[in-house]
Amino acid sequence: MSATVDWTALLAAAQGAMARAYAPYSHFRVGAALLTENGLVVTGCNVENASYGLTICAERNAVFAAVAQGETRFLAICIATENDAPVAPCGACRQVLVEFQPSFEVRSYARGPEGLQQTTATLLPHAFTKSDFVKP
Ligand code: THU
Repeated sequence: MSATVDWTALLAAAQGAMARAYAPYSHFRVGAALLTENGLVVTGCNVENASYGLTICAERNAVFAAVAQGETRFLAICIATENDAPVAPCGACRQVLVEFQPSFEVRSYARGPEGLQQTTATLLPHAFTKSDFVKP
């Protein structure tokens, strides 16, 4: 699966989104680029708000934008920050990332070339998903 992912291009897309982040409160800019099975790259950035709790993360914005474009099958997501070390998605984003399929690749990059390589399944083991619902 990773053979079909151009991580260099995906990182460039994530960094482009990161540059557009709206983070006047935390000053922590995050960009995410989601590669869909149809070959589309859909990006998201964090968007903060004066009412802090309304802030939304880059990863969730990317997933929601993809869904709005009719894309729900994902191959990979790349997350970019300006941190010293790569960051893993927050808990809320992990839950959103596992919604549509059991697992896909997640890579995070900071300033350096060293990436953090995970999957949605390793990030959120024993996830609560639609298969847990009682069928009506
Ligand atoms: N943030 C993300 O966009 N993604 C993450 O995975 C972690 C946190 C954002 C939310 C907020 O705007 C800022 O980073 C600080 O928490």
